[in-house]
Amino acid sequence: MSHLSNVWFSVTPLQVASGHGCWVTTTDGEEYLDFAAGIAVNSTGHAHPAVAKAIADQAQRFIHAQVNVFKHDLLEPLAAKLAEITPAGIDTFFYANSGAEITEAAVKLAKQATKRPHVIVFSGSFHGRTHLAMAMTTSKTGYRAGHAPLPAGVFVAPYPDPMAADQDAEVAAALHGFDHLLKAMTAPEETAAVILEPVLGEGGYVPAPPAFIQGIVERCRQHGILFIADEVQSGFGRTGKMFAVEHYGIEPDIICMAKGIASGFPFAALGTRRELDDAWPTGSHGGTYGGNSMGCAAALATIEIMSDPAFLANVNARGEQLRAGISELQREHDVIAQVRGLGLMVGTEFTDAARVAAVTKHCFEEGRLILMNAGTYGRTLRWMPPLVVDEHEIDLALAAFGAALKATA
Ligand SMILES: Cc1ncc(COP(=O)(O)O)c(C=O)c1O
Repeated sequence: MSHLSNVWFSVTPLQVASGHGCWVTTTDGEEYLDFAAGIAVNSTGHAHPAVAKAIADQAQRFIHAQVNVFKHDLLEPLAAKLAEITPAGIDTFFYANSGAEITEAAVKLAKQATKRPHVIVFSGSFHGRTHLAMAMTTSKTGYRAGHAPLPAGVFVAPYPDPMAADQDAEVAAALHGFDHLLKAMTAPEETAAVILEPVLGEGGYVPAPPAFIQGIVERCRQHGILFIADEVQSGFGRTGKMFAVEHYGIEPDIICMAKGIASGFPFAALGTRRELDDAWPTGSHGGTYGGNSMGCAAALATIEIMSDPAFLANVNARGEQLRAGISELQREHDVIAQVRGLGLMVGTEFTDAARVAAVTKHCFEEGRLILMNAGTYGRTLRWMPPLVVDEHEIDLALAAFGAALKATA
């Protein structure tokens, strides 16, 4: 009998004993190629030696030096590093342990800084599983069902559908929907912030069309609404740039970071401008574990690894290899409706959710390849391998995927 909660859904039944790079080894000694990467978390691969050493060394010095009680000696060095790598203007950081905590913190800061009560999110978004984050999440009813009432003051604007035939018209309609929201439901002077994933994650690995994201930022600037980029999933090299907003040339007022930031150690950071942070009353927010010393050590080691230009070059080269390989298979399998994504945040849109499930199962059982789906309708098969994946591992994954497509046809 298991003593574990039933609430976690399971992608595989595997019991894992160890992992290195893109591979995990089960307690039965079997090896699997892990293209789920802890749901886009194991950015530098499983147990990267430099990250493991940084955590272990730090644990010998102290495990927890509570941030309200002490300022330990990795807090400022990490903030200085983050200031270097985050978009222009971002120079001040708050730390927590998970993505949901950071999206919540971002909205709390936006409310304090603007003295406005509301927030706008986008259809298909995922911002976490706490009550406010759930209220801001619209990628699947399953995340919200049974948890009502959810906090009020969250308004949902349309996100362009990547499958629409006329993308210009789709972007224009989405921007019109946003304008309509500001006229009909939440006036600009009541709207603290917009929170947007530059590449929808759980919503189906959909990069925002540039004209859409730029249109939203323009409207934010015009109305004094803060623009929060939720880069929890798209940040830290996942899209081939350190942050996905760099693809769009936009500068967020607040940026949310978690997942890949510390290679799997639970750690999250909010970045903003000093003058916005100054409006956040001291003591009005916090948390016991935020800024944990081992998390800071893991994040510093992760950033060091990613600072080698070869790191992001690999993400881009492997992403291109992967998309080219899937596109090649698309020619033979019309069940694949679209291949999209940036860097190693790649979505394969199927015409049929059941086929996504069948292909994923076949990849796992026959190809020893771990994949996950995404999207409101479960029709997106998403590729999010560790960012250190090599050419041979991408080939192995494509071969398993090709075999699964054939076997399930
Ligand atoms: C874009 C985005 N924001 C927030 C979250 C929530 O992060 P966490 O699960 O660490 O709370 C996720 C998790 O998938 C995410 O993808």
